[in-house]
Amino acid sequence: MRKFRQKYYDLFSKCYDRFIAMHATDRRGVLREILAAQTGAGPGDVVLDICTGTGAALLPLGGRVGMGGLAVGLDFSSGMLGVARRKTGGTPQICLVQADCEHLPFKAGIFAAVTCSHAFYELQGQTQTLALREIQRCLKPGAPFLMMEHEVPENRFVRLLFHVRLISMGRERAVQILKHERNFLLQHFQQVTKTTAATGRSKVFICSGAKP
Ligand SMILES: C[S@@+](CC[C@H](N)C(=O)[O-])C[C@H]1O[C@@H](n2cnc3c(N)ncnc32)[C@H](O)[C@@H]1O
Repeated sequence: MRKFRQKYYDLFSKCYDRFIAMHATDRRGVLREILAAQTGAGPGDVVLDICTGTGAALLPLGGRVGMGGLAVGLDFSSGMLGVARRKTGGTPQICLVQADCEHLPFKAGIFAAVTCSHAFYELQGQTQTLALREIQRCLKPGAPFLMMEHEVPENRFVRLLFHVRLISMGRERAVQILKHERNFLLQHFQQVTKTTAATGRSKVFICSGAKP
């Protein structure tokens, strides 16, 4: 099943950037800049973007941490990472790692922030819970995890595609996504704040204070 999903994302990588621009109505590509700004990361920090895909969040994150810092993009799809490599190549403070987010290949307590953009809902089975535990392990004490996701699209055609995609993930998952996402995050973090991005139709959950 995992191999099948990796292949699915490898194929999706070929048209992913065009698809996401249409879905998020983010024609100027500023959504991930908003996400990077909300991390509060600054020069010299080390940050992680899980499920980085084609690396949309990495350039703004790399810009914030500067030459003395490091922005790490992690994904399990070689196709997605190939596109990310082409987009971020030549930026020395950005590095790419191929791994499953269930098992982050990093030491504990090293990241000033961890981000996940438009990907968390797609994690299958226990992967969401395992990934959150790993994120908590790798964050510095008090550092935030930021999850950016789509709001329900206004355009009728795009909304239809959104709902078809939700249904394909199963009813329980769809209800969790539409109604209980904050409660789910509160099972793992002491504080969860929701903000809505001023552009596009996306929301950001800023989570801090790991629960044991
Ligand atoms: C919808 S894309 C999001 C890409 C990117 N974060 C963005 O904002 O455009 C989902 C990404 O999650 C990755 N992914 C899914 N399950 C994963 C897992 N278990 N471990 C690592 N990456 C995973 C996929 O390969 C894909 O690149």
